[in-house]
Amino acid sequence: MAVINIFNPLIPNEIYHGDSRNLLKRIAHNSIALSVWSPPYYVGKEYEKDLSFDNWKGLLIDVIALHFSIIKSGGFLAVNIADILCFKDESMPKIMAENVSRRKIVLSKEKILAVKEKHPDWNRYKLAEHFGCSEQTIDRRLNGNNIRGGKYQSQTRIFLVGGLIEAAAKEAGFYLYDRRIWVKDAAWENSRWHTISYRSVDESEYLYIFWKPGITKVDRARLTKEEWVNWGSRGVWDIPSVRSNADHDSKFPVELPRRVIKLFTEPGEIVLDCFMGSGTTALAAIREGRKYIGIDKEKRSVEIAKKAIDSISKYTKEPEQMDLMLRDLEASYGTG
Ligand SMILES: C[S@@+](CC[C@H](N)C(=O)[O-])C[C@H]1O[C@@H](n2cnc3c(N)ncnc32)[C@H](O)[C@@H]1O
Repeated sequence: MAVINIFNPLIPNEIYHGDSRNLLKRIAHNSIALSVWSPPYYVGKEYEKDLSFDNWKGLLIDVIALHFSIIKSGGFLAVNIADILCFKDESMPKIMAENVSRRKIVLSKEKILAVKEKHPDWNRYKLAEHFGCSEQTIDRRLNGNNIRGGKYQSQTRIFLVGGLIEAAAKEAGFYLYDRRIWVKDAAWENSRWHTISYRSVDESEYLYIFWKPGITKVDRARLTKEEWVNWGSRGVWDIPSVRSNADHDSKFPVELPRRVIKLFTEPGEIVLDCFMGSGTTALAAIREGRKYIGIDKEKRSVEIAKKAIDSISKYTKEPEQMDLMLRDLEASYGTG
């Protein structure tokens, strides 16, 4: 069982800078009604670039284990995560597809350079999309090399993350209580494979909700009848992604944690996000009159989160104004 440092406890309504594996040990036992977070997805983002696959799995397992003693009995842990759609597997047979349907295009290096001059920030994926070819073709024309190494390169498959999360939570003492699907905007731009294979684009994520044994108060009055019909009882949540990623690479929309918080907690209870990023969960907690504790290992994320929290906190007595401000924050900072 995790050892809690009760001499220097984390206090509510603060965002802390540091590694969750250290800071979670400083949260008081049985104090958190709900922990809701979205961890690194192992897809090569800046904040996870130093993690090997085993380190990444270890991070998730350790963080989930550290939650058991801090969540209240009857409380919840909600994990938002997606499957890894392009998981490199060395053991897969290296057999290239015979792509007979790709448009035959005559593309010269000069043509690419002309477009690149107009759009210096476009990477090879964007250029490939523009010309309707693969990023390999772009790289071959520009650099005369084959970035994938053709048939010698590792093949990719889907890696289902849910099993890993469920096993870690079960090992820690939690039980899978519910799972919902978040349908987001279809990420055509990120789906490098969809034009050269039979694979689908990336357009959904999961929400796994784990229960810590204990009495759970079920109060149907937390939601209106309309909210129950529209999302409270629904397994699929249709919530648009945030428009851009100007401030933080991988924000979720405030509506996602807001729904979880409203369903699973009472006003005044403490909501934790130990992968707080730009502060979205704290904003949702404030919107719903709950307390929050946030943790992130990146100093910049902590600064962004604190700034966003400051900008909405003055509207606690004016929910409509706060909603306008939250919309502004999503539109101006953007998310994904
Ligand atoms: C998927 S993002 C979360 C985004 C957040 N939900 C939002 O809406 O902005 C994951 C975050 O976890 C942070 N992170 C990664 N490893 C961490 C660790 N060991 N401890 C604390 N934070 C970590 C990253 O810096 C990143 O901000």
